[in-house]
Amino acid sequence: MSRLTLYPDTAPEQIIVSITDPSEIAAELARVGVDFERWQADAPLPVDADQATILAAYASDIARLQAEGGYITSDVVRLKPDHPERASLRQKFLDEHTHSEDEVRFFVEGSGAFYLHLQDRVYQVTCERGDLLRVPAHTRHWFDMGPAPYFTAIRLFIDPAGWVGHFTGEKIASEFPRHGE
Ligand SMILES: [Fe+2]
Repeated sequence: MSRLTLYPDTAPEQIIVSITDPSEIAAELARVGVDFERWQADAPLPVDADQATILAAYASDIARLQAEGGYITSDVVRLKPDHPERASLRQKFLDEHTHSEDEVRFFVEGSGAFYLHLQDRVYQVTCERGDLLRVPAHTRHWFDMGPAPYFTAIRLFIDPAGWVGHFTGEKIASEFPRHGE
């Protein structure tokens, strides 16, 4: 289930609000300039579907987002719980960081959690199949795919070469509840 959990950034044990209604999640995130949408994600995805097949299945949605956000390229990340490098892949964006462009993810399968550090709050957004999240450029955030990752997400970029994590060096991420643990 999609969920937004809001915490003070200095008190991870104190939940301000927890929301599961998608339209309420979207409204709460819109207040801080973050786009959240529910899409139809019902294209059949064979286990061995390659990237081109997955992108083709959602071509019209991708085209709309590209037009709205000026995104040029798209790709697919697909992880299964038995991926041999799951621990290192999970660790890659598990600490607070920023990017110089938007982080746009559309979940067509599985789940993952984004944590957005905005002003004095942390917004934990657990995304499920059908969720689109657009994290604005320069937003402090981290992402947890969990210890047994299972998701397929379409990513959109202006310039994938420029999509690099700039780590803040803060330890805040380790203080908050992890995804899937
Ligand atoms: Fe990121």
